[in-house]
Amino acid sequence: MVAASGSGSRDGWSSRTAFVLAAIGSAVGLGNLVRFPAEAAQNGGGAFVVFYIACIVLIGLPVLLSETLIGRHGQSSATVSVRRMAEQSGAPKAWEGIAALGVLGSTMILAFYCVIGGWVVNYIWLFFNDLIQSGVMGGALPGMSGEDIAAIFPSLLEDGMTMSVLDLIFLGLTFYFVARGVSSGIEVMATWLMPAFFILLLGITVYGAFGGAFSETLTYLFTFDFSKLTGPVMLAAVGQAFFSLSLGMAGMITYGSYVGRNVNLAGTSAIIASADTAVALIAGLCIFPIVLAAGLSTDGGLGLMFDTLPHAFQSMPAGSLVGLAFFIMVGFAALTSSVALMEVPTAWAMEKFQARRLPCATIIGLIVLVLGTLSAYSLNTLSGFHPLGFIPLFEGQGIFDVLDGMTAKLLMPIGALLICIFVGWVADPKLIDDENGLTGALHLFWRFLVRYLCPVALAAILVVGLFPDLVSA
Ligand code: PHE
Repeated sequence: MVAASGSGSRDGWSSRTAFVLAAIGSAVGLGNLVRFPAEAAQNGGGAFVVFYIACIVLIGLPVLLSETLIGRHGQSSATVSVRRMAEQSGAPKAWEGIAALGVLGSTMILAFYCVIGGWVVNYIWLFFNDLIQSGVMGGALPGMSGEDIAAIFPSLLEDGMTMSVLDLIFLGLTFYFVARGVSSGIEVMATWLMPAFFILLLGITVYGAFGGAFSETLTYLFTFDFSKLTGPVMLAAVGQAFFSLSLGMAGMITYGSYVGRNVNLAGTSAIIASADTAVALIAGLCIFPIVLAAGLSTDGGLGLMFDTLPHAFQSMPAGSLVGLAFFIMVGFAALTSSVALMEVPTAWAMEKFQARRLPCATIIGLIVLVLGTLSAYSLNTLSGFHPLGFIPLFEGQGIFDVLDGMTAKLLMPIGALLICIFVGWVADPKLIDDENGLTGALHLFWRFLVRYLCPVALAAILVVGLFPDLVSA
């Protein structure tokens, strides 16, 4: 299918709905389901959540609109889209460096993302087998003691080989859809998986709301304790907001470049951001009641999903079925995001080397596989290797954590800051106004956010987040 934009033979979304679903698919992922609850639990519950929502509305949404409009204007890979807008505005084409940073960052995220995707595959398999063996009605994993269940996740993390194979499976699925192209691969997948995802999410949440500690969860997630809002917590929240909305990594520039001219970008951005935030909050409302009702600890980081939840499924009626449905749902969300992550470097390489999709996706897949395997082994055999250990932010961290921290806490906020400066100050306002679909007061408010509030807030949060001592001294 040819882009509705009429840009010759370039592949593109076949409709507005396809774009919205694919963009929501990109946004909704492990970030919402695994990272958001874990970050919220580690960073003071309500303080984090309330600040996170403010970040989405005041910073995330304007940046989302900025990225999609650059892409739609450019109708090309992320770097060329930024370059085009820079050149038409009489600015140096070096601005394309923002997108180059994104191409690099997306590749880095994809590497550890597929490792986590592999964990999800492992749990789908686990609960599938469990369902076959123990039937639908009982709790999950009937023959296992508490210790046995507690050992599942750590022993997976110890097993670099299994993780690498699972990583390969998940990356292979991602590759399949990217290699098929935008309209016949990514779009087809998103239009099937996203509705299925929402049905599963609602089902499980309603189930949890009946059985779980719902009111405790509400207090936990929404009590705003100002004293907990430190610099690092704010940086974590902003990083999480960008990670969740897929921003600062050229992803939304790339997806925006496949959008037709008839689509109102401000409206679609609002839909995408609302859906993404709703899913993060629902994920919190879905996961915490199950955990709290089972009297388990909430501060397990990534282990919250992979360690704590299986315990909870054991004590639930129809636990194997719920466990299986849960991890399938997570898998769907993860796949629609990993595909978006892979599309960024693939589109870039196709443009840069004037090459076909298949060879580009293959080479990128191989690079990601190497990085992913290294990340998997960094959790066990290579755990003593700290590539950036000399930088305080990455002290004691292996490749997996460095890829995560480097992208969410550094590259994404910096990329987004540069996007705001580019759209707010460098690009010709006429080009921007043509694309954004805003008028009147909303338009003025958006200009204010992109020109002043977002860059200042982002710069400030980067400083207090990266140098907390500086502020408290
Ligand atoms: N937004 C995705 C998530 O929440 C991750 C992602 C980041 C996808 C950047 C694309 C680009 O899981």
